[in-house]
Amino acid sequence: MRAYPTPQTISQAAAILQQGGLVAFPTETVYGLGANALDATAVAKIFEVKERPFFDPLIVHISDLRKLPLLARDIPLTARKLIDAFWPGPLTIVLQKTPLVPDIVTAGLDTVAIRMPAHPIARQILSKADIPIAAPSANRFGMLSPTCADHVESQLGEKVELIVDGGKCEVGIESTIIKIAGNSATLLRYGGIPLEDIEKVIKHIEIPTENNKIESPGQLPTHYAPRTPLMIIETPIAPNKEIAYLAFCNAPKGEFLAVEVLSPHADFREAAANLFSCLHRLDSCGARMIVAETVPEIGLGRAIMDRIKKAAKKNSC
Ligand code: TXA
Ligand code: MG
Repeated sequence: MRAYPTPQTISQAAAILQQGGLVAFPTETVYGLGANALDATAVAKIFEVKERPFFDPLIVHISDLRKLPLLARDIPLTARKLIDAFWPGPLTIVLQKTPLVPDIVTAGLDTVAIRMPAHPIARQILSKADIPIAAPSANRFGMLSPTCADHVESQLGEKVELIVDGGKCEVGIESTIIKIAGNSATLLRYGGIPLEDIEKVIKHIEIPTENNKIESPGQLPTHYAPRTPLMIIETPIAPNKEIAYLAFCNAPKGEFLAVEVLSPHADFREAAANLFSCLHRLDSCGARMIVAETVPEIGLGRAIMDRIKKAAKKNSC
């Protein structure tokens, strides 16, 4: 079922979650597919519905800092600084887990990823349910993340008891993930909070490179991929009516099968908010290939390019 977020819908969503069911709900980043994080059977349904491999751990969502000690064994000063600066918001923090968090949530790791979303509907559902909610993005595994209820419905449809339709996600790109161990911080995923903003709060962040792979099991090259092959272009290409075109700020010259412009104002926020919707549309227009322009890799541009590169990588392996 799909419903707008009335007070009755919020209560229904909370009741479904408390009873071990699944609810898809909007966050400021992308739509999440939620289940009670402390109920292993409920969490198992997420993996089943998403067709997600069990080695890929989930993010646990809370709306109240008082829930944090249920999930994290201790909260180092570095984590506290990040929490003060960015929660609620699109930042996920990976910390040592407590025994209360089922292994299925963390894929057997001794750490847990935690996020406090800023979206009012997500917050209302979380506080009404009054339990931590494990929620990956509400798409089928490896596919494009959903930034509106239509995306969720077309990928997961009847498999979810309730889809709460809160319109378009404002940030449009998943949370930034930082792992904290003692005093050290490691970036696990570029996302909605630009690295530059995080570096203003904590001095040193390790940024793994391609050769220096990190242990985050979810950082697979096949994430965020459209079905249509995608190729990144550095220079203009000749018009082609079989090709769909993803531009950063200016539409290309000549005729393509479809063209999407991420941000006519060359604004990274606007581009991030539009990225997955543009890719969903280009993916369904019947093109032989999607070509994507590069975006400058500064600020949110890094998270945008990370998603575009992963979409391209799927098709090269
Ligand atoms: O913005 C977001 O983060 C969205 C919304 C719904 O909150 N959620 C989201 O979840 O993007 P998901 O499952 O699509 O991505 C979670 C990522 C995966 O790459 C996973 O491997 C990583 O978080 N992750 C989860 N727990 C981890 C852990 N303990 N250590 C390292 N990485 C972890
Ligand atoms: Mg995802």
